[in-house]
Amino acid sequence: MAAYGKTDTMIVHTADPLNAETSRAALAEHDLTPADRFYVRNHGSVPDTDPAAWTLRIDGLVEQPLTLSLDDLRGLQRREVAATLQCAGNRRSGLLEVRDIPGEEPWGPGATGTATWGGVALADVLALARPTGTATHVGLVGADVSEEAEPPQEFGGSIRLEKALRDEVLLAYEMNGELLPPVHGAPVRVVVPGYIGARSVKWLHHVEVRDRPWEGFFQDVVYRLLQPEQEPGPGVGTPLGEVALNAEILVPDHDARVTAGPVAVRGYAFAGGERHVARVDVSADGGKTWVEADLDEDLGRWAWRLWSTEMHLDRGDHEIVVRAWDSAAASQPEHPGPLWNPKGYVNNAWGRVTLHVA
Ligand code: MTE
Repeated sequence: MAAYGKTDTMIVHTADPLNAETSRAALAEHDLTPADRFYVRNHGSVPDTDPAAWTLRIDGLVEQPLTLSLDDLRGLQRREVAATLQCAGNRRSGLLEVRDIPGEEPWGPGATGTATWGGVALADVLALARPTGTATHVGLVGADVSEEAEPPQEFGGSIRLEKALRDEVLLAYEMNGELLPPVHGAPVRVVVPGYIGARSVKWLHHVEVRDRPWEGFFQDVVYRLLQPEQEPGPGVGTPLGEVALNAEILVPDHDARVTAGPVAVRGYAFAGGERHVARVDVSADGGKTWVEADLDEDLGRWAWRLWSTEMHLDRGDHEIVVRAWDSAAASQPEHPGPLWNPKGYVNNAWGRVTLHVA
């Protein structure tokens, strides 16, 4: 076992703060990703949080500021949602085709995973605090201090009030039916289904209802979409929110050697926001011809679809590519576009692996 109970099949980018992704093969094995192989994206060290002493402060533009204990939260209606978390930096290595981001890790396709999250609706907590008429955004603050931020600060971000009031946005204390592990934000984290992972704030201790977006580093400077000529700075570019439609090949691995004949191909597809994956196509000739893949069980509107198909491959090197279609008939671009994100980059281009067939 590696640190924090993770399997040693994790691909560790940095040990402290821990940043580790799931290998393609491990990700392909389960529709619901076990906690011991779920990716970790941290901007600071995992804070010590004693569940018995933990409190959540809800204040700002509310009629009734509140401080809740874990028992108070557990006293509210328990809800569960199957949701995919995906880092905005997932598949960043594909961006190297377009632009390098010095100092940022070359994440492959494993900065994503799907779990069932159990907890209470943020909406139920907000209902107790009663946002005022001028409230438009909900700030979410974690207990970890990030030295990467300028200036160093607690990790935080915000979502619009209308999203915060939806049933699917949870303050989660369980992951896959077990207590939320420390490295994933125990005792309580936010889960914002359909949005980039950065909004799912871990080690939550403060909810601030506001009339404007969060002004901290992780929303105002990074996790934003920039034009090629723009440099990151406060308010520059557009904040990222909903995850862009994307798909990736998990099996066989990139650069794998396989035997000529039928080859089983498997991967994931994920549509952020309100959309769902309608169809997945795979091609062995660079996109000239496509076969439609079979989709695994539908885990609900907030979860990815794993998919699989069989391709007949002759000897030689082949580039296998995948593209998904969403419920609005949108698909993915063949190559990454010119927009970038200082912390992540949304690589929504076709997924690709090269296979050596002998
Ligand atoms: N919350 C806190 N407090 N600190 C963090 O560094 N990282 C965010 C988000 N929430 C982060 C955080 C990012 S960028 C992602 S992608 C997800 O947590 C990753 O969640 P996981 O580590 O549980 O997979």
